Amino acid sequence: MSMILAHLSDPHVLDLRGVPLHRMLLNKRLTGWINLRLKRGHKHRPGIVEAMMADLRALAPDHVAVTGDLTNLALEPEFEAARAMIERLRMDPSQVSVIPGNHDLYTEGSRRAGRFGEFFAKYITSDLDLAVDLPGGRFPFVRLREDVALIGLSSAVPRIPLISSGHLGDAQRQALRDALAHPEVVARVAVVLSHHPVVNPRGGLRSLMRGLDDVVDFRASLDDGREVLALHGHWHRRGHEKLTGDRGGVIHRLGATSASLLHHDPEQMASYNVYEIDRGRGLVSAHARVWNVVRERFEDAALPDGATQTG
Ligand SMILES: [Fe+2]
Ligand SMILES: [Fe+2]
Repeated sequence: MSMILAHLSDPHVLDLRGVPLHRMLLNKRLTGWINLRLKRGHKHRPGIVEAMMADLRALAPDHVAVTGDLTNLALEPEFEAARAMIERLRMDPSQVSVIPGNHDLYTEGSRRAGRFGEFFAKYITSDLDLAVDLPGGRFPFVRLREDVALIGLSSAVPRIPLISSGHLGDAQRQALRDALAHPEVVARVAVVLSHHPVVNPRGGLRSLMRGLDDVVDFRASLDDGREVLALHGHWHRRGHEKLTGDRGGVIHRLGATSASLLHHDPEQMASYNVYEIDRGRGLVSAHARVWNVVRERFEDAALPDGATQTG
C-alpha cells in the first residue's frame, strides 16, 4: 500500500495589522517591507493559497509537508494567519508537518520570542527524541507515518538585510544521521524537509547570499546508500533532480514553488507537489498541481527536471 504526500512551500503570508510604525522602522522589517513592495508584494496573492487549500481538501492526501517561509516578516498576525491557513486543510495535526524558513525567523526578536515553535507546536511533534537546540527551535523532528519517516530540519537563522542564507550546524546534522540510521526510519522511506535545498544556487555570490553554508556536509549526511527524498522551498521554483551520492544513495531533490506567487515563468507559478511513496518501491511518482490563471483552478503538470535549474 503506497501513500500520498502533498508538499507546499513559501506561502509568505503578509499581515501588518496592528504593527506600530516604530517596529517597522527600528529594525530589518523596513528593508524587508520595501523589498517586498518593490520586488514581489503585488504578485503574492492570498486568494491562490485559499484555492490551494480547497484543492488539497479534494485531493485528501495522507500527509501534507510545508517547507517554510509561511510568513513574510515573522510577525504575530502573520503566524496566526499562516496557522489558520493550515487549519483550513481540516486535517489532523499528526498529518501535517511544518518547518521554518528564513522569513519565519526574520529578526532576532522573532527568534527570541520562539514564535515559530509556539504557533506550530502541533505540527512539529516528534516520535523520536533526537532534537537539538537551534535558533528556530528544537529540531530535527522525526514523524513516523505509514510508509514514510518525515525528518524536519531547521536551516533558518536571522541574517542581515538581503541575505537569506541558511545553516544546519554540526549537532543537527549528527542528529539527522542518527535519525536516518534508526531502525524505525530504515524500515520506511526517509523524507527530509529543509527550507534550503541540498544543492546551492550556481555562482559564488548567489550561493553565499541564498545558499546553505554547510551544504556539502548536508548532502554527505543524506547519502547513506539508500533512497532519500529531500523536500525544500526557498527557490520558489519546482523541480525534481536525482542526485547520486558517493555511497550509492539516491537523493531526490524535490522543490516546490511559492504557494501564493503569480509568475510569468511556468516553473515558478503557484503550485504544490504530489508524491506517491511506497515502503518497498520508494518514490513511485511525482507531479505538480499548478495554478491556471485563466481557468482559475489547479491542474496536473509534470515536475520539470531540476538538474537544469540554477536556483
Ligand atoms: Fe520564500
Ligand atoms: Fe526562503
